[in-house]
Amino acid sequence: MQLPVLSPLSISPPHQQSGGAGGSFAVDNYGRPITYLRLALTDKCNLRCTYCMPENMRFLAQKHLLTDEEILRIVSVCASFGVRKIRLTGGEPFLRPNLLELIRDIKHISGIEEVHITTNGVGIADKVPDLVRLGVASVNLSMDSFDKQRFHELTRRNEFDSVHATFHALLESQILLSVNAVIMDGKNSQDIVPMAELTRLHGFDMRFIEEMPFNGAKNHSSPAIAWNDAAIEAHLRSHFPNLERAGRTESATAMLFHVPSYKGRIGIIAGFSRTFCGACNRIRLTAKGIVKTCLYDNGVLDVKQLIRDGASNDELRERLLDCIAHRHKDGIEAEEQSHAHGEFFDSMSAIGG
Ligand code: 5AD
Ligand code: SF4
Repeated sequence: MQLPVLSPLSISPPHQQSGGAGGSFAVDNYGRPITYLRLALTDKCNLRCTYCMPENMRFLAQKHLLTDEEILRIVSVCASFGVRKIRLTGGEPFLRPNLLELIRDIKHISGIEEVHITTNGVGIADKVPDLVRLGVASVNLSMDSFDKQRFHELTRRNEFDSVHATFHALLESQILLSVNAVIMDGKNSQDIVPMAELTRLHGFDMRFIEEMPFNGAKNHSSPAIAWNDAAIEAHLRSHFPNLERAGRTESATAMLFHVPSYKGRIGIIAGFSRTFCGACNRIRLTAKGIVKTCLYDNGVLDVKQLIRDGASNDELRERLLDCIAHRHKDGIEAEEQSHAHGEFFDSMSAIGG
């Protein structure tokens, strides 16, 4: 495959790289390989997590969502310049009709090596065998508390039992599992230690995420947060003095820890502090077909419109590579630019968590 020339920077190595068995891949204007696409399949959700959306959230009309065919086309164009890993997210991806067929079809696209999924786990315990059969590489289960009452308060829905059943079904399956909890002071910070303690007996990653300013509220400033990565780590260390560092996840966003003799691992994701942008290998496609090259930008390309205006695959590829050649250095710079344009952030459900 011919390597894409992205910017003056990409003329010299290491900006043109070979990914071994994975082939060649595009690199951005800061030398970061782009091998990972996060796809929001819908903005709809059956929960109303307070940090993500208001109770009276208005969802997109069907015609504004990408069709299956459009999604498959965009994925194959991305695969042509080196994307190897796809994460299906939302909203709640299981609310998308034909999700399982879509997973199957994405897995058949040449170059795509891994399909992962992020779900809230509502009502899908019986779908876990399908995910195993389809070869889904890992599942991220959003579960902000293992306390039924607090789970209800945080999600505004009484679905704890259903999600808990999915947690157990996933644990019993062969799929790699991470549980994600967004930490909010007093709302679930008291659950950090009990949730970390679950890794004693169960082989999964329990990951604590800093709260980010994506709750659909129209405000322009990111408030300071009580539970940043350092506070979460200090809190964990006060209860697990022998906590060991265990590196970072493959996509670098989570800092990993391990309590000796425990089966699972503990992770911290500094999504607000943004300490991992230097290794960012990802782009995003929102539910309505907008490309984001950073979670904190406000969208850099309307790829759905391009497709509906009749763009060819070559044109799509060129426009996507152009976005990759003009990425922000990090999420701080992206947020400053978004605010400079007087824009506010969407709900995470529309962006793709
Ligand atoms: N801050 C941090 N994480 C968030 N998520 C959704 N909204 C936010 C936010 N405001 C996370 C969810 C889930 C994934 C889809 O995104 O917890 O794990
Ligand atoms: Fe739904 Fe996930 Fe948003 Fe919660 S965080 S409302 S589960 S999309």
